[in-house]
Amino acid sequence: MMRKAQKTCTLADGTSLPQGRWVVVPAYSINRSSQWHDEPETFDAFRFSRLAERDGFGNRHGIVIPGRGFLTFGIGKHACPGRYFAAVEMKLLLAYLICNYDFKFAGNGRRSDKFFLFSCSPDYGAPLIVKRRMDSSKAFLGTSEGSNA
Ligand code: HEM
Repeated sequence: MMRKAQKTCTLADGTSLPQGRWVVVPAYSINRSSQWHDEPETFDAFRFSRLAERDGFGNRHGIVIPGRGFLTFGIGKHACPGRYFAAVEMKLLLAYLICNYDFKFAGNGRRSDKFFLFSCSPDYGAPLIVKRRMDSSKAFLGTSEGSNA
């Protein structure tokens, strides 16, 4: 998240910004801060669903809810309006892949993240071994009965 001061101004904490100064929010670091998350560097696939179970499924911990510790889709009045679409699309795609394919890295261990400007991605160059699951036609979004085409 980046903002450029259109005119010289002073923020609520006293920080003075001259006209034209860029301000960048370190969303990556905040998303991984122990101020907001337990063991933030540990991959925990059920991190947020556990919170939802604990607090009730009012969706407060849902992927589309921006928060001070979750800036993936921004926050405030310019938070990403496409996040509802993006969240459903990502879940559908992941569910389809998991139900229809087995895949693993060609080597061992987790690959390092890749950074492009202010974006962080999985290693898009990592070799992946992909195999279609033979039982996939009945698993999810199946085509005709018994077909794996
Ligand atoms: C995983 C996918 C996506 C991510 C991580 C993402 C992330 C973000 C972030 C962080 C912002 C706020 C930028 C800022 O405040 O400076 C933003 C804004 C925006 N996003 Fe997304 N986005 C995603 C998908 C989409 C999609 C699918 C659409 C449209 C269909 C979309 C449309 C927009 C628009 C129009 C804004 C500007 C909103 C404004 O300035 O008021 N985004 N996005």
